[in-house]
Amino acid sequence: MDVSSHDVLLVGGGGAGLRAAIAAAEVNPQLSIAVVSKVYPMRSHTVSAEGGAAGVIKEDDSLDEHAYDSISGGDWLCDQDAVETFVKEAPQELLQLERWGCPWSREPNGHIAVRAFGGMKKRRTWFAADKTGFHMLHTLFQTSLRFDPITRYDEWFVTKLLVDEGRVQGVVAIELMSGRIQAITAKAVILCTGGCGRIFPFTTNANIKNGDGMALAYRAGAPLKDMEFVQYHPTGLPFTGILITEAARSEGGYMLNKDGYRYLQDYNLGKPQPKPVLRSMELGPRDRLSQAFVSEDQKGRTIQTPYGSIVHLDLRHLGEKVINTKLPFVRELCMKYQNIDPVKELIPVRPVVHYMMGGVSTDIDGATPLAGLYAAGEVACVSINGANRLGSNSLPECLVFGARAGKAAALFAAQQKVPNGSVLAQATDERKRLESQFLFKTGGRERISTIREGMQTTVEKCAGIYRDGASLAEGADTLRQLQERFADINLDDHNRTFNTELEAALELGFMLDVAESIVQCALHRTESRGAHQRTDFPARDDKRFLAHSIVHRNPDGSSRVELLPVKITRWAPGERVYGELSQTNEPPQAVLTRKAG
Ligand code: FUM
Repeated sequence: MDVSSHDVLLVGGGGAGLRAAIAAAEVNPQLSIAVVSKVYPMRSHTVSAEGGAAGVIKEDDSLDEHAYDSISGGDWLCDQDAVETFVKEAPQELLQLERWGCPWSREPNGHIAVRAFGGMKKRRTWFAADKTGFHMLHTLFQTSLRFDPITRYDEWFVTKLLVDEGRVQGVVAIELMSGRIQAITAKAVILCTGGCGRIFPFTTNANIKNGDGMALAYRAGAPLKDMEFVQYHPTGLPFTGILITEAARSEGGYMLNKDGYRYLQDYNLGKPQPKPVLRSMELGPRDRLSQAFVSEDQKGRTIQTPYGSIVHLDLRHLGEKVINTKLPFVRELCMKYQNIDPVKELIPVRPVVHYMMGGVSTDIDGATPLAGLYAAGEVACVSINGANRLGSNSLPECLVFGARAGKAAALFAAQQKVPNGSVLAQATDERKRLESQFLFKTGGRERISTIREGMQTTVEKCAGIYRDGASLAEGADTLRQLQERFADINLDDHNRTFNTELEAALELGFMLDVAESIVQCALHRTESRGAHQRTDFPARDDKRFLAHSIVHRNPDGSSRVELLPVKITRWAPGERVYGELSQTNEPPQAVLTRKAG
């Protein structure tokens, strides 16, 4: 078997991965760093982030307010030490990106422009029109090219973490172009593979978001944390699930039910005002807005379409100039994928799976409990998002904790010996497994698409916006059966070259493991908090559940959930209150977008 060796190995080439690679290279230029990504880095899902990145920059704002908004938005499930670190380092990271060339939108006086975002008391979301993720990723990618020690493995698919002597020592990966299976050893591995929205049938997430990193860590013995908290974004296009950014509501868009009524005024989110009000109505937190949609639907106040119930997002009153300047991508997406022009027409929307609050359990340096393994970005749970992430906290999370994980992994790697020979025996076993169970196997009776669809409908049914014990237990049984059927999978393509069927099968295996962890954690948490709403346990229960769910994988593939107390530093648990008027509600007059270059 071929083997290549590096000091630090990143799995994933999106925002967190590239930021981590740069940080590792800066900490120790002597280290050899590998970025292994199943797609070319500029195709990573960060590219599709639209609305912006939160970081305190204006004088009327403070780190404490950003921390408080995040903690209350997260329904007190955030680790407050992590949040304090996050809000402090987020502006530094965003400024660093500015220096590397990120074309942030500006006010006319040249200052950074910020916009309102859901659940935030102050305007603190930096943006690059409504293509923020594209510009951030581009900036990180071009910066990473300056570092010679960074070697890229583009379009390589990682199938296993190599663990020996209690520490992670590399990966097994398939080069997709040739089908070559090889070991890539490393003294530290950082997972930056993003989330797992594709476990659900309707999601904003790209096809590549299959929970690969979560499953790799889980199988290797690192626990996952808070997997029951799945975020639905209130505004996805009904057929495709394409995100219509929260920035559309920040600029003044209305949510209307089938009667043309701004229904959010009925859900303790404030009353309609002439201009958008921070933390109010359409600028409430995502969990509450998605739950309000379900309630409208149950009352028969949504519109039925072939693609499910919908409500409308109305931008018409904003006018063509504002839409073209601040929301050009929203207009483009609506015209291309929905055949409507938001300047003149209502946008049909419905809640859509967008983000996982949970992930691989890490400390504030991205270290997992498994030595040599780090994680950052959506794949990780550090945890700053608690039970409900505030929009625009995830892009800076990738930067802050990507950088921290990169530094920590570089320091760790510098102290380790080179991986020993026994990991190569493991790698050979993994190659044999891939060949016998998938690539060269014949006679299997199950289709990938059937099992995938079964998984998606099961998880949506039992672990959607509202859950209960009976449907979760039934969902857990169905997923177990799907796991058994997965062992009998059939592949038609036995070629090595660009075998996308093999990749889909391996991704499905990852998703099934992650789906089970979601359902098991949801079953275990008999309370309602943030995005986890149990109809059979409708109240928050701080006595029993001011705690993270930690899920471990047992050797037989079953799981075990434990609780770990939340770290509270300064903000005692309280009620989540939205809808109050803010003193500083006036937006800046206008914004300009500087050209990238
Ligand atoms: O609506 C949005 O632009 C999404 C932002 C986020 O998830 O942070």
